Amino acid sequence: MRIIATGSYTPSTVLTNDFLEELVDTNDEWITSRTGIKERRVTTNENTSDLAYNAAISALKNADIAPKDIDLIVVCTCTPDAFLPSVAGMLQRKFDISCMAFDLNAACGGFVYGIKVVTSLMASSSFKYCLLVGSEVLTKLVNWEDRNTCILFGDGAGAVILENSDKKGIEYTYCDAKGDMDYALKAGGVPLSNPFYKEDIKDYRIEMLGSEVFKFAVNVVYKSITKVLEKTNTNIEEISYFVCHQANYRILKKIAKDLKVDEEKFYMNLEKYGNTSSASIPIALDEMNRKGLLKDGMKIVLVGFGAGLTWGATLINW
Ligand code: ACO
Repeated sequence: MRIIATGSYTPSTVLTNDFLEELVDTNDEWITSRTGIKERRVTTNENTSDLAYNAAISALKNADIAPKDIDLIVVCTCTPDAFLPSVAGMLQRKFDISCMAFDLNAACGGFVYGIKVVTSLMASSSFKYCLLVGSEVLTKLVNWEDRNTCILFGDGAGAVILENSDKKGIEYTYCDAKGDMDYALKAGGVPLSNPFYKEDIKDYRIEMLGSEVFKFAVNVVYKSITKVLEKTNTNIEEISYFVCHQANYRILKKIAKDLKVDEEKFYMNLEKYGNTSSASIPIALDEMNRKGLLKDGMKIVLVGFGAGLTWGATLINW
């Protein structure tokens, strides 16, 4: 199984750190030095399925295949347009094609989980081309009065086309979860409502214990990278790029230091987009692809981590 094309789409409206200074007690210096984020994209008239559709169109174009060639659509998202139908179903409708289609929610760990699920399905079926998308409108879950979280998140989508091929591609994917740390990062909640019982409507917006998630991330990203290297008998020096979930540049710098790897090998674009959850890795991949950074045969590692708490890593021969 290998990735043959990438695509991405981000909304045009830019929300800068200066703008956030008008909303909450914060400043550009604090946000930049603590997170590395300078601005993020915010959708004003498009929902998760629209971002996903645009990213998918660009990936299909780059793969030079038609929507009808797609055998499976998986959309990784924790911010779907609706409970029903799935975002993947909405894409399928827009493309007017017939194939298996469903959403996957592992929050910021979603894209790596998506790779695990899609490659497993491809291995056990006759699927030739699969569309895997990470798409999020996190800004609809943000509490714009909470300076601990509102500075972090943005909207966007990234997509890849996977091909069932004999060529070396996705070598090994590892995923894990720790549900007993759910309290550290949560959002949403649908109140019970039936003829026998009715709950009050709860606050559905993101709440996060930032420093707990920070420590968790540093730990699991290090372990995930070590694990995929071990399982594939790969030396860390063979890896050209680590493409991690874009949450905080301090997390990535710390991991580079712990692994004794040059920081330059940790691709970062969070200054432009902030944390776009399951979309951050495919957006980064597409950006790298368009810059010509990804060369045939190059080994790269993708690492996701987030609410759940979930995490995972995959080693790819590009
Ligand atoms: N502006 C100014 N001050 C602030 C702000 C702000 N925006 N936010 C918090 N502070 C203050 C706090 O109130 C605190 O003040 P105090 O010392 O007087 O109490 C101080 O800054 C330090 O706060 P911390 O939370 O300890 O700051 P920290 O250095 O940990 O940075 C951050 C916070 C950026 C959230 C960091 O912890 C982080 O990035 N955590 C990881 C987030 C992550 O990786 N998420 C991934 C998954 S997301 C998903 O799955 C959807």
